[in-house]
Amino acid sequence: MTDPLDRVRQEARTAMSRAYAPYSGFKVGAALLCEDLSVVAGCNVESASFPCGICAERAALAAAVARGQREFKAVVIVTDAIEPTPPCGMCRQALAEFSPGMTVVSRAASGREARWTLADLLPSPFTPSSLPTQA
Ligand code: THU
Repeated sequence: MTDPLDRVRQEARTAMSRAYAPYSGFKVGAALLCEDLSVVAGCNVESASFPCGICAERAALAAAVARGQREFKAVVIVTDAIEPTPPCGMCRQALAEFSPGMTVVSRAASGREARWTLADLLPSPFTPSSLPTQA
């Protein structure tokens, strides 16, 4: 039986190979498994003006939202690190806007994987309902 996340891992790996990370040398690919089972990937894109860079997870999120996707089952993150790396705090918050309960899988070069729920990684997110105007 094939793991339904295999397709997502593959898309994340392909995106990682396209990452633009000449400053950190740390290439990251991320792929979102959307509620309709489509997969949308992104990679980190750095900039000579360092703060302009974007993480793979938020690049994937922006691409998915542009395709009309707003609910996500899972994100798979792929790097060449020795150990699986968790998403940064900004990406946790950005993902939680849409699917705070989603699964987060991170895969290292060794094939070792870590798995969390986004709620484990960001237990008390600021959400749309945190804004008085959206309550
Ligand atoms: N990076 C990501 O793409 N995702 C993360 O969750 C953590 C960090 C990127 C940002 C930067 O291009 C490089 O990795 C080093 O921080």
